Amino acid sequence: MTRTRPEGVITRGTTGINRLRRVDRWMIHDPGILAALRAADEPLAIDLGYGARPDTALELAARLRTVAPTCRLVGLEIDPERVVPDRDGVRFAVGGFELAGLRPNLVRAFNVLRQYDESEVAASWARMQRQLAPGGLIVEGTCDEIGRRCCWIVLDADGPRSLTLAWDPRHSERPSDLAERLPKALIHHNVPGERVHAFLETADRCWDMAASHAAFGPRSRWARTVELLRDNGIEMLDGPRRSRDLLVTVPWAVVAPEPYSQP
Ligand SMILES: C[S@@+](CC[C@H](N)C(=O)[O-])C[C@H]1O[C@@H](n2cnc3c(N)ncnc32)[C@H](O)[C@@H]1O
Repeated sequence: MTRTRPEGVITRGTTGINRLRRVDRWMIHDPGILAALRAADEPLAIDLGYGARPDTALELAARLRTVAPTCRLVGLEIDPERVVPDRDGVRFAVGGFELAGLRPNLVRAFNVLRQYDESEVAASWARMQRQLAPGGLIVEGTCDEIGRRCCWIVLDADGPRSLTLAWDPRHSERPSDLAERLPKALIHHNVPGERVHAFLETADRCWDMAASHAAFGPRSRWARTVELLRDNGIEMLDGPRRSRDLLVTVPWAVVAPEPYSQP
């Protein structure tokens, strides 16, 4: 690991056991993430900004190893006070957006950029992108305190590829309830005239139209909603799965802020 000054700023270390289960569950079933991990014999994953306790980094390692048993996991924290001794095959070290000079196949940065200014997002993404191993991916997102509502962007070396929303239907009434947890790159663009706003509005409208499916449970209603979203011309990369979560992944072009040019 390179010992240069870690890039970024120390922010609040709020975290929680199992808080990131939704994104972890999604990652270990996503073909793109699996391909990124399987591109190397001993893939390297980084949990950037794991917070005041290392729980979510340890959980990530355990979950990734169910699909990539040789996966190495490094937890990086910009706050040296939060760096804990290595544990359960996970290394912990000081690092920032320069990723301590490592060349990971996968980076998860959750609830990190949330506390930055929007103007800092592009440079932070670019710094991490430069570090990626060939075919590597970054999963950058935000969730609520106990992970019931989660939103994340997947980026490759060229730019953002997709936005995923995942939530527990028992605690959210409509898709637009997720707006408060949009990643920093999108949250301030949830206003009329912007794509992400139009997408959430359409998702709410389709959810309302699918009300007759509510009798069969929220997953059935969400499956119908996704069909209606497709009928509305919205491309979907991922839809309902067999899990309890309600989930949707759309290409970045569906939600990208103005002005937008395809990476
Ligand atoms: C809110 S906590 C998130 C903890 C955990 N990822 C989670 O979602 O539960 C954010 C952490 O990111 C760290 N952080 C902020 N900027 C960072 C950077 N550029 N590189 C590494 N860590 C950073 C902060 O010090 C803080 O501990």
